Amino acid sequence: MPVGIDDMAIYVPKLYIDSKDFAIARGIDPHKLEIGIGIYKMAMVDTNQDPACMAANACLKLMQKNDLKPLDIGRMYVATESALDESKAMNSFVIGMLEQIYGDGSFEHAGGIECKFACVSGSYALYDNANWIRAEENNDRAAIVIVSDIAKYDLGSAGEYTQGAGAIAMLVKENPRLVAFDPKVTSTIIKNEYDFYRPFGRETPLVNGSYSNYLYLIQVKKAFDSYREKAIKTKLIQLQEDESITDKIDYISVHLPYRKMGEKALAYLLRHEWRCLPRWKQIIEEVGMDEPTPKDPRGTIESILADKDFMKADDQFRKAFMRTSIFKQVFEQKMASSLEASAIIGNLYTASMYMGLRSLLEFEYKKNIDLENKRIGFGSYGSGSSAMVFSGVIQSTYKEIVKDMNLEKEIGERSKLDMQEYIRLHSNEGKMNEPISNSNNEFVLVKIGGNTADKAGLREYVFSN
Ligand code: CAA
Repeated sequence: MPVGIDDMAIYVPKLYIDSKDFAIARGIDPHKLEIGIGIYKMAMVDTNQDPACMAANACLKLMQKNDLKPLDIGRMYVATESALDESKAMNSFVIGMLEQIYGDGSFEHAGGIECKFACVSGSYALYDNANWIRAEENNDRAAIVIVSDIAKYDLGSAGEYTQGAGAIAMLVKENPRLVAFDPKVTSTIIKNEYDFYRPFGRETPLVNGSYSNYLYLIQVKKAFDSYREKAIKTKLIQLQEDESITDKIDYISVHLPYRKMGEKALAYLLRHEWRCLPRWKQIIEEVGMDEPTPKDPRGTIESILADKDFMKADDQFRKAFMRTSIFKQVFEQKMASSLEASAIIGNLYTASMYMGLRSLLEFEYKKNIDLENKRIGFGSYGSGSSAMVFSGVIQSTYKEIVKDMNLEKEIGERSKLDMQEYIRLHSNEGKMNEPISNSNNEFVLVKIGGNTADKAGLREYVFSN
C-alpha cells in the first residue's frame, strides 16, 4: 500500500526584506547575496505572527482545500525549531486555533506531538506518520505534518542574510496523489555536534557558519551512502558498473538554508558518487585540475577546515566542477526547479526542503515535463546534527494537485520593509496590536500572558477577517 504526501499547503508572511536594500545597508556587494548566497527576498513575520499561527494558517488552507473535517485527521505533528514553550507542544496551539473554526473539542480524537531536531525534524515526523499508516494504526484516518519556522539571526551577523519565515502543511495518507515514499530505504545518521544551536532563552542561534556548511555536506553524504546500500539490497535500484545511484534518481531535493547550499550539496554528492566511475577522467579533463586531497584525509572536520591550502584548492576545484557541462546538465535536470522558492522566501529551517519540493513540482510542471513515476531523492539535514535520506515516487494523479500550484499567487501580495522597519521588527520593538500588514482570513496573535505569573505564557489567537 503506497503511503506518502497527498497534498500540501503553504503559508508565507506578507512582509519581506529585499536583498539589494539589505546589502546596501550592510555594505555588502548585492551580487554576493544574489549569486553567492542566492537570495532576493527574505520573508519576515509581522508583530502579530508567530510560528504557531503560521502553522495553523497553512493547516487551515490544507483542510479547506481538501474539504477535510477534523474527524478525517488522526494525527497532527508540528516540526519546528522555533518552539514557543518548553512543555506545551506547538500542535496544541494549532489545534486551539483550528477549533475556533471547527468547534471546541473537534480534534479531541486525534493525537500528535511537536518534533525537534533543527531542520531535519519534519522529515522524521513524515517518516513516523507514514509508518503509523503502514502499520494500520490509523483507523482510516490521515495525518497532517506541519513544518513551521522563523529563521532569525543576530543583526550584523553572516547568518542575517539567510533569514526567512513560513510554514507548510502536508497531508499524509495511503494512496497519495502527489508522492509515495519508497519503503525500507530511509537512512539516517546522527552525531553530537555544535554547528548551530540555540540555548534556552536565546531568540537567535549560535552558529559556526563554515563548520555547519561542511558538516551538512558530510552528514548528508553519509546518510546517502546508507541509502545506497539499502536501495541496492532491496533492489529498489539496480546499477550497471558505470552507473551511480544519482543517475537513477530523477530529482534531488535537499535542505535549503539558502539557495546556493542546494547547488553545493549536489556538487559534493556528485563528486562523491562519480569519482570512482569511468566518466571521472573526462570530468577531470574539463575541470582542468586534479581533485585535491587534504593533508590528513582521515582528519577531523576542524583539521580539514584548518588545512587552508586544501580548502583553497578544493574551493577552486568545486567551482570549476560546477562549471562543467555535465554538472550544469544534471543541476538543471534534477535540482534547479526546487531552488526557485528559496530565492524569494529565504530559509524556512524545517520547512525549507518541503518548500523546495513544492517548488520542484510547480516549476517542472510548468516546463511541460511529464512527472509521473519520477523518483525524488531527499537529503534532509538538521544541525546538532542528523541527516535523513529517503526517496519517493511522483504518482500518476499528481496533476490534480500540481496544476493549481502558483507560488506567487499563494504567497499573495507582499510589502517590502525598509531597513528601519526591519530593524524595529527584528528588535521586537513593534506592538502586537499595530501590525504593519493587513491580516485577511488568517489567524493572528492578539495577546501573550495574563495579569498573573501563572498565566505568563498564555497565547491568544483570533481568526481575523
Ligand atoms: N559576487 C558573487 N559571489 C560572491 C561575492 C560577490 N561579490 N562575494 C562573495 N561571494 C560568494 C563567495 O565566493 C561564497 O561562494 P561559495 O560558497 O561558492 O564559496 C559565497 O558568496 C558566500 O560567501 P562567504 O564564503 O564569504 O560566506 P559568508 O561569510 O557570507 O557566510 C554562511 C555564509 C556561512 C552561509 C552564513 O550566511 C551563515 O553562517 N549562515 C547560517 C548558517 C547556515 O546557514 N549554515 C548552513 C548549514 S547548517 C544548516 O543548514 C541548518 C540551518 O538551516 C541553519
